[in-house]
Amino acid sequence: MPFPDNFLWGGATSAAQIEGAYNKDGKGISTADVMTLAEDGHPREITEIVEEERFYPTHQAIKHYDYYEEDIALFAEMGFKVYRLSFAWTRIFPNGYDDEPNKQGLDFYDKVINLCLSYGIEPLVTLQHFDTPMGLQKFHFWKGRETSDYYVRYAQTVINHFKGRVHYWLTFNEINNMSTMSWNAGGIPTGASEEDKMIAAYHQFIASAKVVKLAHEIDENNLVGMMYNGHFSYPNSSHPDDIQGNEDFQKLMMFYADVQVRGEYPLYKLKELERLNIKLPMLDGDKLILKEGTVDFISFSYYLTHVCGRNTKGIFKGLNGLETGYKNPYLERSEWGWPINPKGLRFALNTLYYRYEKPVMIVENGLGARDKVTSDGRIHDDYRIDYLKRHLLEIEKAIDLDGIPVMGYTSWGPIDLISASTGEMNKRYGFIYVDVDDHGVGTYKRVKKDSFYWYKKVIASNGESLT
Ligand code: BG6
Repeated sequence: MPFPDNFLWGGATSAAQIEGAYNKDGKGISTADVMTLAEDGHPREITEIVEEERFYPTHQAIKHYDYYEEDIALFAEMGFKVYRLSFAWTRIFPNGYDDEPNKQGLDFYDKVINLCLSYGIEPLVTLQHFDTPMGLQKFHFWKGRETSDYYVRYAQTVINHFKGRVHYWLTFNEINNMSTMSWNAGGIPTGASEEDKMIAAYHQFIASAKVVKLAHEIDENNLVGMMYNGHFSYPNSSHPDDIQGNEDFQKLMMFYADVQVRGEYPLYKLKELERLNIKLPMLDGDKLILKEGTVDFISFSYYLTHVCGRNTKGIFKGLNGLETGYKNPYLERSEWGWPINPKGLRFALNTLYYRYEKPVMIVENGLGARDKVTSDGRIHDDYRIDYLKRHLLEIEKAIDLDGIPVMGYTSWGPIDLISASTGEMNKRYGFIYVDVDDHGVGTYKRVKKDSFYWYKKVIASNGESLT
């Protein structure tokens, strides 16, 4: 039996992509709440304030704020051992820097966490998932050191509040998105300078390291992980320049994990910053903070692999903020053009584990597809089952053949939710269908897809039903 008995099976969501109620019960506006829907070939727009006549997908999302009881009951019915969710910082500190936490925000997460625990579901909480408070604009979001300090206070507040109830924490979702989708990562405009992005990333590293230390002090049973956007890649050819181009791209991404796992900037990054004449805003004591705040485990998202080579450098655009210039002719693609590569997941697990030798967890993986409700009122998503099955079988190999300690697997979007890159609703990932369209029109009724019953069996058999 390759999957260990305590393997954490479950699903993952983020507050902004499911909750809705974007300004209810004292919640403040976040960077996610000013992003419009990508439509008619135009990418999502970011408006300075919430404009009344515009449509913003997060404002209602799938109304999980109202439906959380039904949703979590469905997760429990599938047998989830873990549920990865994120807290909206703006529910707890509406502006980010407020003096006191918003009680109604804490109340909501009390209800959610207690409900999970009542079903025996272990919560795994991401502290920031693409939703920096707009109030922190006055400090230029993550460019300002103040944002880092306020984040630590928010984290301390919730880690204390949920002491004994939440043991697994992730500090930042896909921290390496600062190099690809920097607005999502920390309120830094995508077109900002490399210097601004590196300063913002530095402040997130400091904040994360402080929170790791604090979490351990608050409760020695707390485990804090980093969350890496799995931008794994193959060289375009065996030409030495393509090999080097691929290596350069990997360094661009992996340096984020290097800092969070090893507690210091790798020399290759320091050299690059020196070449670019970028000075990190380092204060006395920062080196020690980074060293003392290394993460306990590595989590990552895995959707695709890239091909890189001599022309890759600096190409950040396209779907999910990244287009490396090459296509892999051996891989099929999703309806959104994302290359599908189950075998790459084993490669990813090997890369991460044998680079860092820390436990690893896949906290996002899934297929965004247009589902159809058939005349029997059901959703026959065999393509999703096939996608997930093929990926899970590769995890099994990584455990069984490569000896990798994989902690768990949370598929992305166990319930349909709004897309982070486009804001669409029709890019569906769920085991549970939500009856609502791209413009927020629908009954919001939840319907179990075929994959719901399939995943339930996978969990109940601890993966044995896969073969
Ligand atoms: C990850 C994010 O990058 O990819 C999620 O952490 C996101 O928030 C997921 O939803 C899938 O991307 P998309 O654009 O299809 O929603």
